Amino acid sequence: MTIDVEKIVREAGKPVLSDLVTDHMDAQEANVYQDMLKGVKRWRTLRTQVPGLSLLLLSRSVNGNPTYSGYGVGKTTILRALQWTIGTVFSATEADGGDEAFSTFMVPSGIYWTASEAIAWAGDHMLGLENDLTPPVFFLDDVGREVALKFVAGRDQEKEVASRLTYFVDYCYERKIGLVIAANYSPTDFSDKLGGAAHSRFTQMTTHGDETFRFSLTGIPDYRVVGKHRD
Ligand SMILES: Nc1ncnc2c1ncn2[C@@H]1O[C@H](COP(=O)(O)OP(=O)(O)OP(=O)(O)O)[C@@H](O)[C@H]1O
Ligand SMILES: [Mg+2]
Repeated sequence: MTIDVEKIVREAGKPVLSDLVTDHMDAQEANVYQDMLKGVKRWRTLRTQVPGLSLLLLSRSVNGNPTYSGYGVGKTTILRALQWTIGTVFSATEADGGDEAFSTFMVPSGIYWTASEAIAWAGDHMLGLENDLTPPVFFLDDVGREVALKFVAGRDQEKEVASRLTYFVDYCYERKIGLVIAANYSPTDFSDKLGGAAHSRFTQMTTHGDETFRFSLTGIPDYRVVGKHRD
């Protein structure tokens, strides 16, 4: 697959963390958001000295309130912005023109998969590729929103995704590859999704000394719903 980086920049623009605003938030929400952005920037600096240092961004809905849907809080935008500063490329073959164009399993080093392709790859080929492909950071967006895997029976889908996810975390853990994960979960649900052992490893990967790089944006308003026009 050829990746036309210039075309992607032209069409999608290059997101930067400073594009993210807090005008649509109240003071407390803005504080939480600014702390998160500070942490993300700190991660970006520190990760070059701490191989395998990882980052987690979570957000889930609050009581079904559409303002606090857990969606549209900027997770994907942050992942894209990080990916640009880290100097990797991505494509958007799953693009349908919306924001979800980038809601993918993004893999650096010029190789790109959609979420389902990457999960399949993780399950089927990772061992064979370890000498060829050791990128420093993997971006894994929208954990929990995987589309159906091919050649896996319906009743086995969930189990198969779970085992590939575990395998993926282990793979990064063992090789000190940074893993950036974003998902619409509470911390507890995310822990359940990864499963005990992988979650324990991922917790270690997102911890450095007394600093942690796990951020919950639950309670931050959905920009798609209130952005720009909240009074
Ligand atoms: N704080 C913000 N400031 C400016 N724009 C924002 C902010 N948060 C989100 N947006 C914009 O809102 C849209 C949705 O954001 P994004 O896709 O990054 O959210 P998300 O958290 O990944 O959502 P989802 O949970 O649906 O995957 C994008 O166009 C993004 O640029
Ligand atoms: Mg997203």
